Amino acid sequence: DSYKQEIEASSVLNAEEVEAFRIKYLGTKGLVKAIMGEMKNVPNEQKKQAGQLLNEFKVFVETKFEGLKAQFENNDSDASHIDFSLPGDAVAVGTRHPLSIVRNRIVSIFKRLGFAIAEGPDIEDDWHNFGAMNLPEDHPARDMQDTFYINQNPSWLLRTHTSSVQARVMENQKPPIRVICPGRVYRNETISARAHCFFHQVEGLYIGENVSFADLKQTLYFFVQEMFGKDIKVRFRPSYFPFTEPSAEMDISCLICEGEGCNVCKHTGWVEILGSGMVHPKVLENFGIDSNKYTGFAFGMGVERITQLKYRVNDLRLYSQNDIRFLQQFTGAV
Ligand code: PHE
Repeated sequence: DSYKQEIEASSVLNAEEVEAFRIKYLGTKGLVKAIMGEMKNVPNEQKKQAGQLLNEFKVFVETKFEGLKAQFENNDSDASHIDFSLPGDAVAVGTRHPLSIVRNRIVSIFKRLGFAIAEGPDIEDDWHNFGAMNLPEDHPARDMQDTFYINQNPSWLLRTHTSSVQARVMENQKPPIRVICPGRVYRNETISARAHCFFHQVEGLYIGENVSFADLKQTLYFFVQEMFGKDIKVRFRPSYFPFTEPSAEMDISCLICEGEGCNVCKHTGWVEILGSGMVHPKVLENFGIDSNKYTGFAFGMGVERITQLKYRVNDLRLYSQNDIRFLQQFTGAV
């Protein structure tokens, strides 16, 4: 009984003291074991009674121990010993991929101009990727984009541009149409610092009454100034795309070498960032849009190229190698 009193009175304040309690009373050199050892000295006629007492005592100590253990092992709710003024442990959060950062910026600039976002499938049929875009079979301009076909079946392919999404929008909506189409596109090119077999585009389409080439230019000027700042130099060059007429490519002054001449601008000081033009009447007619009533402009840009200029990335392969030293440089950017 005196042991019982001692045990009841023992002060146990934390998990370590619970363990000390266990060692003291229940351990291999603890009190319960020691009393058990004494049993051999108890006269035979008292053995039965002593055994009962000992058992009762053992259960008492074990019950007490279990109680203490439950109290201190899971004592998160007892906040009295936590110092809330200590600085917290840093949580390692990931960083956004540079291509996502730049795509989000491009999208948000066009959203402010009233463009809606449209998406479509990566695996496309020939019609949406080529046919509807005024690239009938055997059109030589199909060679401009080396296409991946699915199982060599010419009716299924990986989209070579997100113009295929514009086709799907024109199929399902009536003018006025004002959409941008961000997405991944695929071309069968040898991977190098300057080319990859997939990349990302944002293409835009605006169809309405009295939409003019001046609207196209103004929209794209606004975009590059928002993206690269008011001092950026811009030039338009006449170009050719089967789905636009007239067509133009837009260059901006090279931000990598700042005019000194480098591999990215091939020592010209200018970098092409997008293709554009007035939607070809045939494309409109393909979707039953009256080309006498409506006109439209379209443009398409590569997210990799814009990111390269914005962050001075000199090798396209960095975007898909998952090298943490590259990716961690974009901490904090959204
Ligand atoms: N679809 C073209 C490409 O991927 C870009 C483009 C879009 C050009 C719209 C003109 C108009 O190369």
